[in-house]
Amino acid sequence: MRGPHNIWRLVRTGATLERTGAMTVVLDAFNAPAPLRLAARVLGWPFKWLGLPGDPDMPPATRALTALGPAYIKFGQILSTRPDVVGEELAMQLKVLQDKLPPFPLADAKRVIERELEAPVEQLFSELSEPIAAASIAQVHKARIVGTGQQVAVKVLRPGIEKAFQKDIDAFYLTASLIDLLSPASRRLRPSEVVAHFEGVVMGELDFRLESAAAGEFAATTAKDEGFQVPQVEWLLTARRVMTLEWVDGFPANDVAAIEAAGLDRQAIGNRVLQLFLNHALRDGYFHADMHQGNLKIAPDGDIVAMDFGIMGRIDEYTRRVYAEILYGFIRKDYRRVAEVHFEAGYVPADRDIDEFARALRAVGEPIFGMDANRISMARLLAYLFEVTERFGMETRTELILLQRTMVVVEGVSRSLNPSINIWDVAQPVVESYISRNVGPKALARDLAATIQVLARYGPRLPQLAEAALLRHNEPPAPPVVPGWRAPLLWMMTGAAAVILGGLLIHLI
Ligand SMILES: Nc1ncnc2c1ncn2[C@@H]1O[C@H](COP(=O)(O)OP(=O)(O)O)[C@@H](O)[C@H]1O
Ligand SMILES: [Mg+2]
Repeated sequence: MRGPHNIWRLVRTGATLERTGAMTVVLDAFNAPAPLRLAARVLGWPFKWLGLPGDPDMPPATRALTALGPAYIKFGQILSTRPDVVGEELAMQLKVLQDKLPPFPLADAKRVIERELEAPVEQLFSELSEPIAAASIAQVHKARIVGTGQQVAVKVLRPGIEKAFQKDIDAFYLTASLIDLLSPASRRLRPSEVVAHFEGVVMGELDFRLESAAAGEFAATTAKDEGFQVPQVEWLLTARRVMTLEWVDGFPANDVAAIEAAGLDRQAIGNRVLQLFLNHALRDGYFHADMHQGNLKIAPDGDIVAMDFGIMGRIDEYTRRVYAEILYGFIRKDYRRVAEVHFEAGYVPADRDIDEFARALRAVGEPIFGMDANRISMARLLAYLFEVTERFGMETRTELILLQRTMVVVEGVSRSLNPSINIWDVAQPVVESYISRNVGPKALARDLAATIQVLARYGPRLPQLAEAALLRHNEPPAPPVVPGWRAPLLWMMTGAAAVILGGLLIHLI
C-alpha cells in the first residue's frame, strides 16, 4: 500500500513462487481467474531462468515460503491452520513448514539482552549457552541466574525481525487488495481479513511480555491439574524482546523410547495429554493452541510440561456450554437435540429447516461412531460439524477453528504415546463432568445467584435505572433528566409496596 517497495516485494514474491512451482498451487487455492493466471505466468517467466531457491525435497509451497523468509514462513504456518481459507491440500503442504532457521550469534543475543534488561549480561546470568533452538522469530539459550544459580531458558527475539515483519505485512495487505480487485470470486475468502488475523497473531508473538503474561495466566488456570506443569516466568529478567523462564528438564514428548526406558507409563501420559487439553478448553476456556511435540516435555516423574505460550486460544463461557451440549448430544446420538442447540444459540439462522439440519448432523455423527475405536477422532467430528454448520449459514469462528486444529495436533500427540487410544472413551468423562457442573439445574442455580449478585450491586440505583428505562421506552424523542428528588420517592414507594405485599402474604398464610 505504501510506496513502490511493496510492489518490488510483490514481484520478488511472485518470482519466488514461480521459480519453486508454487504459483500454480497458490492460484488454484484462490481459484484465480484466467487473466490473473496469465499475468502471473508472464511476469514470472523471466525468473524461471534464475535457478531454484530453497530445498528441492520440499513441496513447492513450503519451498517458496522458506526461501522468502521469516514472515512468509510464519504466514504459511498460520495459513496451515486455516484449511477453511486455503483448502485442505495446501494446508497439508504448509503444515510441514519447518521454522528452523540458522541461529544468530551469541554476541548478538547478548546485545539484545543488555539493551532490554538494561544491565551487563554478567550481572544477570552467570552462564549463558550457545543457542539450543532457533526458530523464525526467536532463539533459546540455557542460562543460570546470578546469585540464586537457578537454571533458566532465555528466549531472545531475532534482531531486526519486527521491521522485517512490518514490511512484509504491508506487502501482504497489498496482495490482499490486489486479489480483491482482480479476483472477485476470491473475495469470499476475505483475504484482507486473513492478513489482519495474521498481523494480530504475529504482533502478539513479537512481544514477549504478552507471551509471559499468557504463561502466567495459563499457570494459574491449570494450577490444580495433576501431572501438568507450566514453567514459571522470571518477570525481572523479562522484557519486550527477552523472556526468561524456569528451565524445564525432561524428555522431548516425541522420544517415546526414552520415556519408556525411564519406566514411565506412556499410555497413561498419552491419555492425560488429551484430557488436560479438553479440560483447558472446556473448563477454563483458555488453552495452549500450539501443543505439538516440540512444545511439550515429559518430566522424569511423568508430569507433562508445556512450553511456548505464543499462541493461546480463548473460548467464552457461553460458547463452551453450547459446545459441551453439542458434544454430549453427539455422544448420545441425539441429533435432534444437537440441531436444537444450534438454533437456540442463534448459530444457525431461524429460517433454516431443523429436520434437515438434524439429518445433516446425523450424517456427521454416524460414520464417525461407526469407526474402529482407535480411529475415532473428535477433531474430525468437529471439522465435519463446522462444514455442515457453515452450509446452514453459521458464521466461521476463528476461536473454534483454532480449537479444532489444535485438537488435531493433540490427538496426534496422544496417539503417538498411546497408539491404541480410544479418543471418545478418554474424552467422555471430561465432557460429562463439565456438563454435570455447567448445564442443568445446578448451573441454573449458579447463574441465578450470579445474576442476583450483579443486580444487588446496582441495588440502590435500580429504581432510577428502571425509571430511566421506562421513560426512554415511553417517550422516545426527548428523554428528560430524572430529577434527583424522584429517586428517593421511588424508593419509598417501592418499600411501601413491599411492606404491603409482605403484610398481605403473612395475613393470607
Ligand atoms: N523453559 C524451557 N526449558 C527448557 N527448554 C525450553 C524452555 N523453553 C523453550 N525451550 C526449548 O526451546 C525450544 C524453542 O522454544 P519455544 O518457546 O518453543 O520457541 P518458538 O516459539 O520459537 O517455538 C523448545 O522447543 C524447547 O526445546
Ligand atoms: Mg515452539
